[in-house]
Amino acid sequence: MEEIIYLNGSLVPRFEARVSVFDHGFLYGYGLFETMRAYHGKIFLLERHITRLLGSAEIIGLSVSLTDIDLGQACRDTLKANGLEDARIRLTITNGESDAFPWSSFSSKPTMVVTARPYTPLPAEKYEQGFKVGVASVRRCRQSSISRVKSTNYLVSVLARREAAEYGLDEALLLNDDGYIAEGGGSNVFFVKASGLVTPSLESGILPGITREVVMETAASLDISVEEGDVSPDDLGQFDEAFLTNSMIELMPMVAVRDEAGQMVTIRSGRPGQITRRLMAAYRERVAVDTGTS
Ligand SMILES: Cc1ncc(COP(=O)(O)O)c(C=O)c1O
Repeated sequence: MEEIIYLNGSLVPRFEARVSVFDHGFLYGYGLFETMRAYHGKIFLLERHITRLLGSAEIIGLSVSLTDIDLGQACRDTLKANGLEDARIRLTITNGESDAFPWSSFSSKPTMVVTARPYTPLPAEKYEQGFKVGVASVRRCRQSSISRVKSTNYLVSVLARREAAEYGLDEALLLNDDGYIAEGGGSNVFFVKASGLVTPSLESGILPGITREVVMETAASLDISVEEGDVSPDDLGQFDEAFLTNSMIELMPMVAVRDEAGQMVTIRSGRPGQITRRLMAAYRERVAVDTGTS
């Protein structure tokens, strides 16, 4: 079956889906995106993703052009048109095509694209082994509002992940401009200490992850404490467990970190810990309830 793309209000075959070379997303990275996971034909936490995108649109000045568009319906229609049950949905919105600079004219016609592609989860063994990550040489800027939006200018994450991949690692770990741990290349990070969670605060220059939010709610329901603050890479050796979160991988144990000096620091036993496992199970239960499969 041919892949179907949602483009500016229409569902079209993949090879007919074309965007202008004068699109501000292409020329300036002036746009936003969301990546969501569908389970059994239902997009998990779709409304939260739309809310985050609209909040980001407000921050970067794209919101006016989005008022008449039903973003959620476009995502559901694209999933259905592709006949998929388990999928990765990507919603991309840019400032649209214009001959003018984005700072001299405010385009009122955004470009909107939704893709839905089959998603095969990582194998269970990967969750048993956990991710090994590497501290990246590029950093997040905690002062910058850009760190808090999921923009189509994904260069910091791309460079960080390329560097991690060169070392054969699974994900990058980004520090902020003050040298504290911010987040993964495309994920948020949690640590476990004395049976409670510790995670970089939103002021660390991170994307406010939807999965991060759900993990914090889940922890509260299980009476697991959560402390948000500055996390120093010097403390890596003191944590009992660690894990990464995003909408696709859910919770992934993080068992080792290649630090800035190139040394591999193992998180305690180097194996997924008990609190991580409890939260992984609780998250999956939440998915099952929300997607009507429990
Ligand atoms: C930079 C960054 N941080 C964190 C996340 C996790 O966000 P979410 O849990 O909403 O998928 C992502 C998602 O791709 C990301 O790109």
